[in-house]
Amino acid sequence: MPEADIVKPSKDKNYYEHIPMISPGFFLRGAGSLDWGMKNRLARIFNPTTGRTVMLAIDHGYFQGPTTGLERIDLNIVPLMPLADALMLTRGILRTTVPPALTKPIVLRCSGGPSILKELSNEELAVDIEDAVRLNVSAVTLQVFIGGEYETRSVHNMTRLVDMGLRLGIPTMAVTAVGKAMTRDAQYFRLACRICAELGAHIVKTYYVPEGFETVTASCPVPIVMAGGKKLPELEALTMAWNAIQQGAAGVDMGRNIFQSDAPEAMMQAIAGVVHKNLKPKEALDLYETVKAREAQKSKARGQA
Ligand code: R5P
Repeated sequence: MPEADIVKPSKDKNYYEHIPMISPGFFLRGAGSLDWGMKNRLARIFNPTTGRTVMLAIDHGYFQGPTTGLERIDLNIVPLMPLADALMLTRGILRTTVPPALTKPIVLRCSGGPSILKELSNEELAVDIEDAVRLNVSAVTLQVFIGGEYETRSVHNMTRLVDMGLRLGIPTMAVTAVGKAMTRDAQYFRLACRICAELGAHIVKTYYVPEGFETVTASCPVPIVMAGGKKLPELEALTMAWNAIQQGAAGVDMGRNIFQSDAPEAMMQAIAGVVHKNLKPKEALDLYETVKAREAQKSKARGQA
């Protein structure tokens, strides 16, 4: 039984009556009115000091099988995970391959259906929100195909996922998916990102465009994270990330430009430098080269031992 509070004359207790109650605000765009659990999950994904994130996307297998670089996630990707701020993946990879002792926030892929052999916009929700809770995820995510053949279905998938997540305090990240024949310009991404945010997404993942990306971030009332896209030479990928951050992105969610790099660990560190320390592309490339050389030396030494 707890002991009784020490009885003191009220003049000896300190209620700091003259100091207004501190009501913590929240650092993330568009999240001020969310409940505590939502904010706490978002604060695991986005670093509260920088307001940004480096998310590692490794969910490609959900529609394209063992993508180059992801053939053996246990061998090649698990060692990179501690360097990421958050991981975007499927429940299959999470349960089979990711050590449960890893405490990185999980952004769980929740849509699926068609493979690369079929019409990709014909997705359904592919995870029960209860399973997301069981897996202790920090956010759920899915593709939204604005302008795609099954546009309405994918938007409806998103609104259902948002509703399920809201009931349980789990934020939703919408990914603006671009079909092969679709235009990739600022006008399209303004439309797609804004629709996702208006209909309830808490984070939007979208592609960088060289012209007018700042209008995409400015007109979207929730944080935007930049998708990486196909593999580019390292300096180009670092420049794209730097441009996106300088033009208002709250981080990146990159896959192939990290795990298909010659030195994925070095690339993770270089991208983190751009995102969290505002390293310029050339400075980040220097960091990449330094870490790459160090890692090569270490692995040579291991080979000789
Ligand atoms: C693609 O549909 C998946 O959502 C991927 O996670 C992601 O968008 C691709 O990542 P990246 O383009 O950087 O390889």
